[in-house]
Amino acid sequence: MDKQNRKAVIAGNWKMNKTATEGAALIDELIPAVAGAGCEVVICTPYTTLVTAVEKCKGTNIHVGAENVHFEKSGAFTGEISADMLVDLGVEYVITGHSERRQYFAETDETVNKRTLAGLNAGLKVIVCVGENLAQREQGVTEELVRLQTKIALQGVTAEQMANVIIAYEPVWAIGTGRTATAEQAQEVCAAIRKVVGELYGEAVAKATTIQYGGSMNDGNAAELLGKPDVDGGLIGGAALKADKFAAIVKAATEG
Ligand code: 13P
Repeated sequence: MDKQNRKAVIAGNWKMNKTATEGAALIDELIPAVAGAGCEVVICTPYTTLVTAVEKCKGTNIHVGAENVHFEKSGAFTGEISADMLVDLGVEYVITGHSERRQYFAETDETVNKRTLAGLNAGLKVIVCVGENLAQREQGVTEELVRLQTKIALQGVTAEQMANVIIAYEPVWAIGTGRTATAEQAQEVCAAIRKVVGELYGEAVAKATTIQYGGSMNDGNAAELLGKPDVDGGLIGGAALKADKFAAIVKAATEG
């Protein structure tokens, strides 16, 4: 099966939750809970927790990521953080294109592309988020929209760099709503994303690319979602803030 050739990746996206002190306590619980996982385990934390997270996760199987990155290397961009700054801290992953960034911070497909390139060029692994909102799903344009978002996000990304790209399909209507996409819906769109990656980079890259589902994934529904042939992992919001729930999802990925 192709799936065996891909890395299953379970990533937590903590969003704007946890002070560094609270985050440290969560990581202390997570370390034993996910030790020995058979999948890649990532926690993407607020910037303020990154130093603590990198320090605590050294020598463990937990990899640390940021939730966003600016596309310029340095300069007069008050409040922003560059890819080099993240790399210097020992951060390995970064999320780009999260729908909350698109919705509340006016990010466009073009800025998502620039951030993705900045992350990759600095040596980060990038989790690129795509996904439709409810109106778009009801209008029947999900596949076209996700294809477009994927194509623009990957402009200028080389086939070699695709080894460091994960694509997360996150339907906006499923994020933080408790309304999960069905496993069939997740599979359908993840397969469509793999198809577009194949068109851009060829079959071998498409087969090797990890594609996650995100949106109300939890310990109860993870196994079914992760059991689908094109769903290689999860990007987890709310359930990533509880060590036992996150560990249960990691276990489902290990067994799936
Ligand atoms: P929830 O798991 O809270 O729905 O969030 C999903 C998400 O947005 C992860 O990036």
